[in-house]
This record gives sequence, C-alpha cells and structure tokens, in this order.
Amino acid sequence: MNNSQSIQIAPSILSANFAKLAEEIYKVEEGGADLLHVDVMDGHFVPNITIGAPVVKSLKKVTRIPLDVHLMIEKPENFIEDFQQAGTQILTVHQEVSHHLHRIIQAIKERGMKAGVAINPSTPINVLDCILPEVDQVVVMSVNPGFGGQKFIPYAISKIKALRNLITQSGLKTNILVDGGIKPDNCLSVVKAGADIIVLGSGIFHTPDPMETVKKIRNTLELKM
Ligand code: DX5
Ligand code: ZN
Repeated sequence: MNNSQSIQIAPSILSANFAKLAEEIYKVEEGGADLLHVDVMDGHFVPNITIGAPVVKSLKKVTRIPLDVHLMIEKPENFIEDFQQAGTQILTVHQEVSHHLHRIIQAIKERGMKAGVAINPSTPINVLDCILPEVDQVVVMSVNPGFGGQKFIPYAISKIKALRNLITQSGLKTNILVDGGIKPDNCLSVVKAGADIIVLGSGIFHTPDPMETVKKIRNTLELKM
C-alpha cells in the first residue's frame, strides 16, 4: 500500500478557465500540485474536442511541474512526436484505440517520455496482463472519458484494488493513476484502494480557492492514511 507522502495530486486543467490558464496553473502549483494533467480529446474516440500539442507547448513555458498528457484520441501513434516536442513528460494512450499497444508504448519510451495506458470503465484490467511490465502508469478511468464534472463510478474501486494486487504480486513499480469524479471528500477511498496519483478537475478548479483545495487534499491524505 502507498503511504501519503508519495501520493501525487494531478489537477486536470479541463475544468480550469481556459482564458486564464497560466493564472490557474500558478494557483495549483502554489498549493503543491505534483503534476499537471492535460486532457486531449479528438471528437472521435470521445464526444468532445479540447486542445492539442501547441497548447501543451505554451503550458510548458509557464509551469515548472511535469505535464501528464492524457490522449483520448484515435491513432495516438500519429501524435507521439508532437507531444514530445511540446514538452510532455508522461504520455498516456487508451488501450481501446491502440491496435499495436506494445509498439506505441515503445515509441513513447524511445522518445524519453514515461508511458501510460488508460482503460475505460468497461475495460477489464486483464487486457493489461502482457503490457504491464512495459508501462510506467496505468490510468484507471472512473468516469467515461470525454467530460469533466461527471460522477465517480463506484466499480472503479474494485478495479483499482485488483490492479494494485496484480502490480504488487508481479513485483512491478507501475503507478496507478485514477481519473474522473474525484473530489476532496472521496479522494481518500481512491488512495486507500491503491491509487498513486489522483486527478481532480472540477474537484479543484470549480472550488472557490483551487490553491487551498490542493492543500486541503494533501492534508486529508496525510492525516487519514
Ligand atoms: C475525463 C478526463 C478527466 C477529467 C476529470 O475524460 O480524462 O481528466 O478532466 O474531471 P473531473 O475531475 O471533473 O471528473
Ligand atoms: Zn484525464
């Protein structure tokens, strides 16, 4: 099981004010955010469109914390170089749209980035059996990808626990990132189930004081773990 010190908090800028992105990022940096989660959507794999590599490149110039880019796009293999050039540290692709997942993971790592694989709520963890030793992080989706502000799907807790057991039993160091529907009041249960990294979008940026919210989440994890 993790300890509270190593749990990483990754605000998702999807719920930030896009007209004031740099200011929004400074707030969560001040609060002690560990990673910046960037949701890239193509309107095909998911029913929404967000941002691409040029915005990531601009964000890179205004932040000192690592960029964790979550690609919710078809043919992610076509964009690996663009996101690496933009300054991405961790690049995650979805298992459901990666026909040659092993090849994609290798390509991400060859470009010096950490590689992640995301699975939708309806995708079982056993699809990861063969690839797990190759990936740096698994993104367990606790909402159907496409939008911020959705409700946490409770079944995700059992998937996180099963994945944590699998990683431990296999002697691996793969991180578990959980994404979707996490708020300050349910983050502890997600971490106790086995998450190493928690993503919060609306749970941080739709609060009156995002900086204080990040601090509050950190306190919750430190006091209650
Ligand atoms: C959903 C995205 C999430 C989203 C989370 O498709 O991958 O990262 O921003 O937003 P909240 O925390 O509001 O559910
Ligand atoms: Zn995401």
